[in-house]
Amino acid sequence: VPDLRLLPTAALARAYRRALLGNARLLDYSDPRGDEELRRAIAEMLSSVRGVAAPPEAIMITRGSQQGLYLVGRALLQPGDTVAVEAIGYPPAWEALRQGGARLAAVPVDREGLDVDALAALAARETVRAVYVTPHHQYPTTVSMSPARRLRLLELAQRHRMMVLEDDYDHEFHYAGRPLLPLASMDKHGVVIYLGTLSKLLAPGLRIGYVAAPPPVLRALAAHRAIIDHHGDQVVERALALMLEDGEVQRHARRAVKIYRMRRDLVCEALRRSVPALQFEPPAGGLAVWARAPRVDVDAWVTRARDAGVAVQSSSPFVFEGRAPGCLRIGFAACNERELAEAVRRLARAMPPRGKG
Ligand SMILES: Cc1ncc(COP(=O)(O)O)c(C=O)c1O
Repeated sequence: VPDLRLLPTAALARAYRRALLGNARLLDYSDPRGDEELRRAIAEMLSSVRGVAAPPEAIMITRGSQQGLYLVGRALLQPGDTVAVEAIGYPPAWEALRQGGARLAAVPVDREGLDVDALAALAARETVRAVYVTPHHQYPTTVSMSPARRLRLLELAQRHRMMVLEDDYDHEFHYAGRPLLPLASMDKHGVVIYLGTLSKLLAPGLRIGYVAAPPPVLRALAAHRAIIDHHGDQVVERALALMLEDGEVQRHARRAVKIYRMRRDLVCEALRRSVPALQFEPPAGGLAVWARAPRVDVDAWVTRARDAGVAVQSSSPFVFEGRAPGCLRIGFAACNERELAEAVRRLARAMPPRGKG
């Protein structure tokens, strides 16, 4: 999770006031695809920063990307459709897809992200309607999908008419080298349904996500959304449009990236020094470190850490298929320097005795 203490709340309050004053129309029933100005602002951000050419008609605002995925499941899947998911991945996405009737099939993940050869083998055996992926920073392992696999995945999807559900939840937070553009930026055949969110960039409680997809797909999603929610909070949506137009969101992003990069360096250094049992590469992006803990009972470690006031996650809840790899996911973004140093000290003290190798 991001550090909510960094949020530009004064700018958000000003934008909310500007959005609402003299604009009571925003409180009327409206378009299930969301506020037009926010759709325009997101379209501009996607094209200028992420290389994704989606006009406002190809964008729908949702209550978080979770609602976007749920709607994709409901509107685009038939009961029994096979959807491929990362064998270690993001359980809320699996649940959303199951609600649409999907039968999930696991595809392994390695140091280059989703194993596209394994997906190709699955697609050769049966019809795979869609694949859900987190290519930017694989969740939870943090690895970025290699360029070769990205190309191959798009080719495969086109050949098999498989939808690629790309969850790009933390796009801004890439610290190493050149920015990595989403799969959607290379999608020449309209196979990618792109899901984004402001949950990491700003705050999860805003419940603002978006889907970029061809307009007929969005119409199907909007028809389902109208049944359960009509549309989101128009005033919040307009306020965020104003903040994007004024560059406030972008300013916040630049500041947050600098701070989180520093916190990543700090936590990696502290973990190396104080918890030598952990093996990890500093993540190239994202808000967490993924570390192996050979011969340590990571679930017991998580419980002992929680009792000591430190929240970390073990790999167990993220495993769809196969053995849990015995890793910890250690979020660093929400803690300042002092808190991180203290958290690492307590995490080190909470480590259970190592077993025999
Ligand atoms: C993989 C992944 N996708 C999406 C999200 C964001 O979900 P939402 O936009 O519904 O808040 C998260 C947040 O934790 C996440 O980890």
